Amino acid sequence: MTALQLLSYIVVAIAVQLAAGLGIAFWRWRRARAASASWIGGARTLLPPAWSGWRDFVVTQRTPEDASGSQCSFYLQPVDRAPLPTYLPGQFLTFDVPVADASSGRGAGTRCYSLSDKSGADGDRITIKRALAPPGAPSAPPGVASAYFHDVVREGHVLRVKAPSGRFHLDPDPAVPSILIAGGVGITPMMSMLLWAHAEQPGRTIHLYYGVRNSADHAFRKILEDLAAANANFHVTVVYETPLPGDIEGRDFHCSGYIDLERLRRACPAEVRCRYYVCGPPPMMASLVPGLRTSGIPDGDIHFEAFGPASLEPSKWGPRSALATPIDVRFERSKRSLVWDGLDATLLDFAERKGVAMESGCRSGSCGTCETRIVSGTVRNTQAGAYEVAAGHCLPCISEPGSALVLDA
Ligand SMILES: Cc1cc2nc3c(=O)[nH]c(=O)nc-3n(C[C@H](O)[C@H](O)[C@H](O)COP(=O)(O)OP(=O)(O)OC[C@H]3O[C@@H](n4cnc5c(N)ncnc54)[C@H](O)[C@@H]3O)c2cc1C
Ligand code: FES
Repeated sequence: MTALQLLSYIVVAIAVQLAAGLGIAFWRWRRARAASASWIGGARTLLPPAWSGWRDFVVTQRTPEDASGSQCSFYLQPVDRAPLPTYLPGQFLTFDVPVADASSGRGAGTRCYSLSDKSGADGDRITIKRALAPPGAPSAPPGVASAYFHDVVREGHVLRVKAPSGRFHLDPDPAVPSILIAGGVGITPMMSMLLWAHAEQPGRTIHLYYGVRNSADHAFRKILEDLAAANANFHVTVVYETPLPGDIEGRDFHCSGYIDLERLRRACPAEVRCRYYVCGPPPMMASLVPGLRTSGIPDGDIHFEAFGPASLEPSKWGPRSALATPIDVRFERSKRSLVWDGLDATLLDFAERKGVAMESGCRSGSCGTCETRIVSGTVRNTQAGAYEVAAGHCLPCISEPGSALVLDA
């Protein structure tokens, strides 16, 4: 081979490599554009599920997200290797958790976990906090599903997953400043919102208020610091409830105490329109969401998600006594006529106890999976839900019969 031939081979090889590289970059760019377009286009209306029923995902990586190890991220890839759908920043996945707590006989069933990263081709990420016995019931068993994830699920584990869902997501309009308020593991949907905004709309103004116990539970610390340093439009305020002796204000956190309306007003004065996104533990939700409403912010600008399940409601753990006057409940499609005796906290629990099949996800009125048409009769909500039900429908996971009831289930 002459030197000239060798040179032309080298030139052709380099040209082929460059073309391939450019092709891949172009393909990635097109996919990213398509993804963001469908987010933006789909953000006001809920897109139909990207797949129906369960899909197998393999865990490709586990990463602790805080100093105490109580929050752990799991990275997931579909086993079928088909492309992943995009999701709206703030949405969650629903998991089939095949585990029962032997000591109490409680089964985990389904659980929802928010996606904690922006939608990406490299897999989905969720972040799970180990649920310990609540302070009011120190001898209660720890959370079943979160313990399963922390103690059993490792790289290579296959999980059954339902498509991204949920109405708690960032509004695509960048003109209105967004105030994200996260308490504890309520930071997860906010991470996906922040990372998406940084990639797609870096010019929009976002204030994140992140309330956490102290440095032990301070999750995503480095990434939040990096985001705030990289983007002058992102403002992060970390509020420690009870700083540890070594925690230093100004270095580890911005202020101590709780996130309150006064603090929020500093970021968004009354005359400025802002959209609020709140996700945190029940006391935070119970004080902030009504507080925002009474301070004059229109309902449409307040978005919130409770990290149920409804079983976290203390009322569910108390002894329940049978009703003096039971209520007839008919599940029309299952052809079952039953009697509501008041011993179950919700219609969903009742249906499950009686062997009536009913779809469920969050069990806290967030996801809409259990939405059921009321054929006749009335229901009463046992707690507020974030999901807006269609007229004439109910969410059995957060309701009980108000009168004799016939359900299309
Ligand atoms: C839309 C949505 C998104 C979510 N996203 C996330 C997320 O990103 N990350 C995350 O970590 N979680 C998230 N959650 C919460 C998650 O779905 C689970 O609810 C959570 O992991 C607890 O489930 P578990 O099975 O571990 O606890 P469970 O077994 O359901 O127990 C719940 C709590 O009740 C206590 N308990 C159990 N028995 C008793 C008893 N007899 N008396 C008193 N207390 C008792 C347990 O100790 C525990 O604290 C989300 C929830 C929803 C609805
Ligand atoms: S199960 Fe999610 S709304 Fe009922």
